[in-house]
Amino acid sequence: MNFIHNDLLRCPLDQHVLHQDADSLRCENGHAFDIARQGYANLLGAADKRSRDPGDSKEMVAARRDFLSGGHYQAVADKLVSLVKPQINADSTIVDAGCGEGYYLEQLATQIASSSQYRPSIIGFDISKWAVQAATRRLAATWLVASNRNIPVTAHSVDCLLSLFGFPVFNSFRTVLKQGGTLLLVDAGPQHLIELREVIYPQVKRSESTMLQQACAAGFSKGETSTLQFQTDPLSQRHIHQLLSMTPHLFRATREGKQRAEGLDHFSVTIDVVFQRLHNSGDI
Ligand SMILES: C[S@@+](CC[C@H](N)C(=O)[O-])C[C@H]1O[C@@H](n2cnc3c(N)ncnc32)[C@H](O)[C@@H]1O
Repeated sequence: MNFIHNDLLRCPLDQHVLHQDADSLRCENGHAFDIARQGYANLLGAADKRSRDPGDSKEMVAARRDFLSGGHYQAVADKLVSLVKPQINADSTIVDAGCGEGYYLEQLATQIASSSQYRPSIIGFDISKWAVQAATRRLAATWLVASNRNIPVTAHSVDCLLSLFGFPVFNSFRTVLKQGGTLLLVDAGPQHLIELREVIYPQVKRSESTMLQQACAAGFSKGETSTLQFQTDPLSQRHIHQLLSMTPHLFRATREGKQRAEGLDHFSVTIDVVFQRLHNSGDI
């Protein structure tokens, strides 16, 4: 896959414009970043890394790719598209922050291409190089290894920013969004995977998400909230294993809890997802 350059890309070290020069991106101060042969650029500065191999591991990415490709979250993707599509116009820029292996951007781009005259610019980035490598195989878009803490995109240039099941950094999200731009925050609701959580934890915690308060504290204003709840078809042992491997429950569950989950087969779970629109309306 060839790298798709976007004029909005900025050097993560000094915020100067990045120009493509063969297999690298360079800024006027001589900072250079490799373009991988798979078709993504690595714009993760050393200061943006908290470990040698940050973000989701190769195994987690493979589990998520296989699980999502099975169509179990199709309704989540359809709902996302229905919320984003009305906002798109001829020169929109959409950025997926923490895009994982690219499932949602692929769904969005494909569904927009089949039902709209507009072709938005699409940028997806994730801190995990394994995720971004997998994403390059899904669709042609501007793919980057980068961090939510330092988004290498021109300030106030993005119309619609997506953060699905991710680790939002609201101050940097506001920096790249246009005044009047929208953040669509998609996260698990209280009943999400409740049946699986009841198997893996001795006691299920029912903690309230504080993301909305964090977003508002960073200066976003609250827009429309919608929820989606449904029951999956019965999942096989392999799919349960993948589902567990693609969520933080993989790290939080006890060994006994994980063993109990590995024994499940033909097991249906509740999907409970909250879609929160947030507007970047105020001054920064
Ligand atoms: C639960 S996964 C969700 C992936 C994708 N949005 C989806 O819903 O399929 C969270 C993703 O956030 C990424 N991530 C973690 N910290 C990040 C950061 N600081 N900046 C960008 N991505 C990050 C992980 O590598 C992982 O791919």
